[in-house]
Amino acid sequence: MGERVHRVVFEPDGRTLFVPDGQTILEAAQRAGVHLNAPCGGKGTCSGCRVIIPHDPPPPTETCLRELSGEEIRRHLRLACQVRVRGDMRVVIPEETRLGDQRILTEGVARAVPLAPNVRKVAVHLPSPSVQDQRADGERLLDGLADEGLADLRLDVKVIRELPARLRDLEFHPAAVVIGRDVVHLDRATSADACYGIAFDVGTTTLVGYLVDLTTGRQAAVASRANPQAAYGDDVIARIEFCGRQRDGARTLHGLVVGALNEIIAEVCRKAAIRPSVIYEATVVGNTTMNHLLLRLPVEGIARAPFVAASASAHEVPSKDLGLRMHPRGRVYTAPLIASFVGADTVGVILATGLHEDDRLRLAIDIGTNGEIVLGTRSRLLACSTAAGPAFEGARIRYGMRAATGAIDRVDLEGERLALHTIDDAPPVGLCGTGLIDAVAALLEAGIVSRSGLMRGGAGAAAVTEPRPSESGAVAPALAQRVVGADGETGFILAGADETQTGHPVLLTQRDVREVQLAKGAIAAGIVMMLEEFGARVQDVQEVLLAGAFGNYLRPERALAIGLLPPLPTARVRFVGNAAGAGARMLLASRGLRRVADDLSRGVEHVELSQRPEFQARFAEAMFFPVPGP
Ligand code: FES
Repeated sequence: MGERVHRVVFEPDGRTLFVPDGQTILEAAQRAGVHLNAPCGGKGTCSGCRVIIPHDPPPPTETCLRELSGEEIRRHLRLACQVRVRGDMRVVIPEETRLGDQRILTEGVARAVPLAPNVRKVAVHLPSPSVQDQRADGERLLDGLADEGLADLRLDVKVIRELPARLRDLEFHPAAVVIGRDVVHLDRATSADACYGIAFDVGTTTLVGYLVDLTTGRQAAVASRANPQAAYGDDVIARIEFCGRQRDGARTLHGLVVGALNEIIAEVCRKAAIRPSVIYEATVVGNTTMNHLLLRLPVEGIARAPFVAASASAHEVPSKDLGLRMHPRGRVYTAPLIASFVGADTVGVILATGLHEDDRLRLAIDIGTNGEIVLGTRSRLLACSTAAGPAFEGARIRYGMRAATGAIDRVDLEGERLALHTIDDAPPVGLCGTGLIDAVAALLEAGIVSRSGLMRGGAGAAAVTEPRPSESGAVAPALAQRVVGADGETGFILAGADETQTGHPVLLTQRDVREVQLAKGAIAAGIVMMLEEFGARVQDVQEVLLAGAFGNYLRPERALAIGLLPPLPTARVRFVGNAAGAGARMLLASRGLRRVADDLSRGVEHVELSQRPEFQARFAEAMFFPVPGP
């Protein structure tokens, strides 16, 4: 008898597929190309994969009962990774569970670099062969290019095979495409100025591609996508585990990222009205895991002590090898890494911010899915990585979501009331990273959250004994009554059920506050340890550079209020946008910078925090919130 299959319809897109009996909804969604949030990678611990099964929902599993509230169960919410398909069903994916369409930061500070790309496209007039000039076609071309100042070039045998016919077809007046020292293609001379490269920032959560005109250095177009690998876990560890669990796991993740990069290529080409075949080179920065998954290098060693990557070097591989749809003889340059958890994205941040060329002591923090921190001057640079990001990207937060429409991104305390702002001014759906930090800062200010992170309200609020800023020392009643018991824990109602898009209230729970403490504690402790290692004090730091999408939308005073940033005047905090992406663009525009990147990869000192005995103590201290200022 054949395998039983069931029809599953995913709403709102209406995507339908037939699913073998017993598969989970999450697996079915992944097969259907429906990108669901799955922060914990399907372990049933994050409740990020909530879906609604409007008709005849299967009975909740034990995990569903543990992770979802009674109200959610009654509203037919289930965890997609826990529920198995046993019959035909319609599955509604709520906004907060969908991946994609989030606010992705594409701008960044790129410092001006002289345009000297690795790709050149040069038109040459070659003399036609004659009895007096019997040079072979290959040598004729190389001589012609040497006359244009391009000496020492090489011709690949594949190019030579096509060369005689191609040269005659172009009447000995070709535009030669040279990558590094290799002549890879002959184009029409009239197309000599159609020479492009694309710089990719391959992040755990987002992918950004910048199309650059290599004849002028001008950015021609930009496009971004959510990284579809997120359907297999929101952090690199979950994805590495997936590769270990699933026989074809690494191939699946490689295919997903390449598919999304190809979509980006297609989009930038459409925007700039060019053909993908005139993109000859791609540069890539990404963390170590993203780099290895793209290059199809083994990732297992990255997540297991002693945390060893397969390679930290820069690589140059044919675009065809990776399946990127640009010129078939194009190349992909992947920037070098610093350590297993400090990747090429950090190299990009250093290049873009010029940390390696400055005498002032500066600190750069890139809060992505991990928090990467670089501290130093031109003579010494230290880097470390902290497990900080997922909470700030909305993962592991009860009503957390990415920075998409309806996400609460700002929370202000105005007297006794809270003022909320949402992305696109839509009714609230959930809470994104900046909203989360704002909410915690506002509740600290209101005395509802104590220094140790304890949430008190109602009658309990008056019992908060730790320092708080309110003049009277009491919590405003209008705020205190928003603190409720929700499924066995305390939560603060940010938006009531009648105000939201989803019909459920958006709460900040006690557990969420703990997640914020863990994330900000990790970054703050990392900064303290780096300063100690460098032998500097906080006040010696002349500038704090905040990189990454999250950093860019963060309000410095809020980050200071919760102790995410060291206590420094806000004037010393500067946003540098997507600095990693800016670094990738610089590596595309200047081949000389690739040597600098190699030097950084070897020269930046990696501080392995978890190996330091004092880290736990610093971390425990950094979990406390600062005493609010005047
Ligand atoms: Fe389902 Fe985390 S609970 S992916």
